[in-house]
Amino acid sequence: MRLKISFLLAALWLFVSPSFLFAGNVRVSDDTDECLECHRTVTPGIVADWENSRHSKVTLSVAMKTGTLERRVSCATIPAGLGDTAVGCAECHTANSSSHEDTFEHNGFDVHIAVTPEDCAICHPAEEKQYRGNLMSMAYPNLKGNPLYRKLMDTVNSVATWENGKTEAGMPTTATENLSCLVCHGTKVEVKGMKTRETKLGDMDFPVLTGWPNDGVGRLNPDGSKGSCSACHTRHAFSISEARKPEACAACHKGIDVPAYRVYSVSKHGARYKDMNNKWNFEAVPWEAGKDFTAPTCATCHVSLVTADGETVVKRTHRMNDRNAYRLLGLIYAHPHPGSPDTTVIKNSAGLHLATELTGEPVSAFLIDKKEQGRREAEMKRLCLCCHSTQWTDNHFDGIKNAIKTTNAMTLSATRIILDAWDKGLASGLPDNIFDEGIERMWVEQWLFYANSVRFAAAMSGADYGVFDNGLWYLSKNMRQMSELLKLMESARPHGKQQKNRQ
Ligand code: HEC
Ligand code: HEC
Ligand code: HEC
Ligand code: HEC
Ligand code: HEC
Ligand code: HEC
Ligand code: HEC
Ligand code: HEC
Repeated sequence: MRLKISFLLAALWLFVSPSFLFAGNVRVSDDTDECLECHRTVTPGIVADWENSRHSKVTLSVAMKTGTLERRVSCATIPAGLGDTAVGCAECHTANSSSHEDTFEHNGFDVHIAVTPEDCAICHPAEEKQYRGNLMSMAYPNLKGNPLYRKLMDTVNSVATWENGKTEAGMPTTATENLSCLVCHGTKVEVKGMKTRETKLGDMDFPVLTGWPNDGVGRLNPDGSKGSCSACHTRHAFSISEARKPEACAACHKGIDVPAYRVYSVSKHGARYKDMNNKWNFEAVPWEAGKDFTAPTCATCHVSLVTADGETVVKRTHRMNDRNAYRLLGLIYAHPHPGSPDTTVIKNSAGLHLATELTGEPVSAFLIDKKEQGRREAEMKRLCLCCHSTQWTDNHFDGIKNAIKTTNAMTLSATRIILDAWDKGLASGLPDNIFDEGIERMWVEQWLFYANSVRFAAAMSGADYGVFDNGLWYLSKNMRQMSELLKLMESARPHGKQQKNRQ
């Protein structure tokens, strides 16, 4: 009798368990079957990756049957014809084909190469919509569409010449930009005609893409959409566990201007992650604090749906500023977070597309208000309280506010020096490029490297990055050197030569 019951239970378990579905062969559509026939030999790595992913193992109609918290798809209804087969090559690469400029005739199918957020939105509309609320999704226009940031970009990317005792900056090329800023911010992917290529299976025609390959967060796609989901979920694994690990963000959030990953990796949270991550469960949805993981990763604090003791602590959000009250990244001061992901709409009283005046006062009309700042901070703090006391958490946030205050003050002091230099005609201020000359570059380093480093170290607990490693030491040293350089320039100037350059 006992044996019978356990047999019955085992049969029932096989029937309802997702691992049963994994073990079994999910049917692929006829179209995908044709892609697979060739691509198993043409691109075996891609096919193997896909076979290991949930897209090959769980159909949309099965995915829709799971509970709200566990669900990994967010469409309200099943789009025609997509319910009962695996999400295969054809389901992604032939979706919305008429809106894609990169669509081409490929062995009887209208295939496009760049599968975009718009295509993923067929089954993941919530993630796509939230993602559009990120500065990240606007990273290309925010950079290239802001005349001031453009100049910063050109300062870095142009090839300088030295002739007749003078240095001049040339015009940067798109090729250089694509290998510089746009690797992370995203390129503009364009179709430049068709080309016949010799392949393993004979000659075939393919579109010629420029700005490709690229996985930048604000990539401009050939269907008019922005961004690349593969920035964090690399194709064709498209996994949640990869995105939950800090390495997914490290690719872009590591430089001395944006040191989140460096800071995290030396924090206690980062140390725990390194020690214990092989015991954590990165697949579980929802993600239970204490049980599935014992210290937060970037995703935990900024993105994840986290539960504790069976209750929801924070909801998942692909709008990754949802728990950020402040814009820590100071261009040029830290300030309340922008209200719109499109930062080119922001204008200060001098007509510059900056969220603060040059002297630090925030341009409040374009920024979130105190109430929204409070909501975002409370959201982040709820998460901390899974593992910390209120005092620990509140004091930590007081520390962030103190770091914002002191670093903004040090940025203001450096800005006063540069305003003086422009006033005295020792550097050419607006409307010229304000980032390119020697003393101006020191000013840029003040806010872009040192002030940011101190703030990120305070926010995510990486002490050394706040002190001797690009931190307070450099913030004060650089200030001193700027003032000494200004005096030197003044004394070296031929007598009586003074012009006003500042507007
Ligand atoms: C008759 C064989 C065949 C079939 C069927 C086929 N492909 Fe291909 N496909 C190829 C070959 C060969 C290449 C070229 C690989 C290379 O560039 O070396 C290719 C390239 C591609 C590319 C990359 C193009 C580029 O330049 O980046 C994509 C995307 C693609 N196929 C998708 C699909 C999809 C989706 C299907 C099914 C709807 C499909 N293929 C069906 C043979 C095939
Ligand atoms: C869930 C959607 C999805 C599925 C399913 C899918 N792809 Fe892709 N594929 C993508 C994305 C996204 C990219 C990369 C575009 C980007 O970087 O944003 C891509 C890129 C490619 C490329 C170009 C990559 C390169 O390195 O040149 C090929 C070829 C390709 N896919 C073939 C396939 C084949 C074959 C299958 C089936 C085994 C398949 N894809 C299944 C979304 C998908
Ligand atoms: C036709 C529907 C469909 C499309 C299009 C689609 N997906 Fe999915 N996606 C699914 C299904 C079904 C699952 C599995 C759900 C489950 O396991 O319960 C899934 C799961 C996922 C997961 C979770 C994987 C995990 O490890 O938990 C990610 C991430 C994901 N998709 C990303 C993408 C991205 C990025 C794109 C576009 C490049 C995309 N999907 C396109 C249907 C789709
Ligand atoms: C390695 C990846 C990476 C590269 C390369 C990169 N950035 Fe960024 N950039 C970032 C990240 C990450 C942020 C946001 C950081 C944050 O919010 O803390 C950012 C933000 C910015 C912003 C703020 C935009 C806004 O709307 O507020 C500007 C301006 C900027 N970067 C300029 C540049 C310039 C100019 C270059 C090239 C010279 C460049 N970046 C290269 C990763 C990169
Ligand atoms: C491919 C590069 C890239 C990757 C990978 C990346 N980011 Fe970003 N991130 C950026 C850039 C660029 C910006 C700045 C965009 C701007 O200011 O216009 C940014 C901005 C942000 C911001 C500022 C707020 C906002 O609205 O965008 C947060 C928070 C953030 N990223 C978190 C993350 C987390 C968490 C991860 C990993 C799960 C991650 N990012 C992965 C490039 C990247
Ligand atoms: C313990 C929680 C926690 C972890 C882990 C964490 N962060 Fe943060 N992060 C914060 C807090 C708190 C702030 C500052 C709050 C604010 O901006 O209002 C912040 C700020 C940021 C910002 C600045 C946003 C802006 O708009 O300027 C970025 C970008 C960021 N984090 C990315 C990351 C990345 C990437 C990782 C992983 C390497 C990470 N964070 C790990 C809590 C965390
Ligand atoms: C900047 C990094 C980043 C980008 C870009 C990104 N995601 Fe995610 N995604 C994450 C993280 C982190 C998680 C894990 C959330 C959690 O733990 O609840 C995740 C989880 C998911 C899941 C799994 C949900 C589940 O319940 O298993 C899906 C589906 C998904 N993303 C789809 C997308 C789609 C579609 C896009 C493009 C519009 C996208 N993601 C872009 C970081 C990213
Ligand atoms: C899943 C549990 C967990 C969550 C959630 C969590 N922490 Fe922690 N945190 C830890 C553990 C464990 C330590 C190590 C404690 C020790 O030093 O012994 C730690 C350490 C710290 C430290 C000391 C850092 C250092 O490097 O010395 C700070 C500050 C901190 N956490 C702040 C926060 C804040 C702020 C949040 C929310 C945004 C948060 N933590 C969320 C588990 C967590």
